[in-house]
Amino acid sequence: MALESSCDETACAIVNGREVLASVVASQIATHAPFGGVVPELASRAHLDAAVPVTLAALHKAQLELSDLDAVAVTQGPGLIGALLVGVQLAKGLAVASGLPLLGVHHMEGHLFSTSLIDADHAGPAFAPHLALLVSGGHTELVHVEGLGNYTRLGGTRDDAVGEAYDKVAKMLGLGYPGGPTVDRLAQAGRGDAIEFPRAMIHRPNDEFSFAGLKTAVSVHLEREGQPSTRAELEDLCASFQAAVVDVLAFKTLRARRRLGVRRLCVVGGAAANSGLRAALQSAAAKEGFEFVPAPLRYCGDNAAMIAAAAAARIEAGEDASLELFSHRSLDKLVPPRSVTAAVRDVGPTT
Ligand code: KG4
Ligand code: ZN
Repeated sequence: MALESSCDETACAIVNGREVLASVVASQIATHAPFGGVVPELASRAHLDAAVPVTLAALHKAQLELSDLDAVAVTQGPGLIGALLVGVQLAKGLAVASGLPLLGVHHMEGHLFSTSLIDADHAGPAFAPHLALLVSGGHTELVHVEGLGNYTRLGGTRDDAVGEAYDKVAKMLGLGYPGGPTVDRLAQAGRGDAIEFPRAMIHRPNDEFSFAGLKTAVSVHLEREGQPSTRAELEDLCASFQAAVVDVLAFKTLRARRRLGVRRLCVVGGAAANSGLRAALQSAAAKEGFEFVPAPLRYCGDNAAMIAAAAAARIEAGEDASLELFSHRSLDKLVPPRSVTAAVRDVGPTT
């Protein structure tokens, strides 16, 4: 079982290896929308409200008891500290109460696992090797994934993350928060060549990105031309912005894939839901003959299934419980530093 509470989604999932038995996500979008972004203190409080119900819902959905589990995992970071603490404290409580090993998972490693999940509608491939484009509200990274724990960050954004650029452009257009899905929907009906926006760093011989200049270009365009006065103008503007983002992401990602000679490309993270990005990479895959695996839409945004799958892989590889999550040494006695496989074997049912 894994818990995820790093930002504005409270999630709990139960997996058997890569197979998802239950994945429950409580979104806080309605809480934060009036403020145009995530308010950390409100996020922590909303996690407190949702964490236990979401956990019970996951157990109910999987038809399991706490005593049926092998381990408890939790997103250890990066994320909002007050938000992370809620998930970590609940996971610690569950682990201590049930005698299960506790594993901390890096949120980004979790996203990398989202393409290999298996459920009724998606049979993801085994984890690695592949090239991953990780695009979310806080991150834009190209990662060469050679195996579990063997990740090389090739490059990333020097300023705004992709999702962040979408959210900021949406704000300029008065489209609400989060802006990614709305801008994407409008873009699908517009003309991508209506307005010429810059493709920053596209010809630089590196794997770095920059989206702050594009955001400024949209702002300058709005100052000069005013807000779009018709739905068609709004759609054209969104489509032109999206074309600029997708051109750079696709061009540099595809070039990196060819250079590395990697046969599989994965795209993960909240902005991996973007229709333009998925279509561009899909058509390149057909043309260049590589395997393209986009994260299923339900696992693009933050969820606990990806965290649980990462933890399951680590357990299978023999990793011990992450004792550093227990800040007080005396707690070591409750989760002794033994191998997880040994722990799994002699853990009794909850009393
Ligand atoms: O991974 P995620 O749920 O949270 C973070 O870890 O950041 O990603 C959320 C981000 C938001 O910035 C949102 O606007 C963006 O993903 N996003 C999109 C789309 N759907 C969500 N960006 C572009 N196109 C989309 N369809
Ligand atoms: Zn995320």
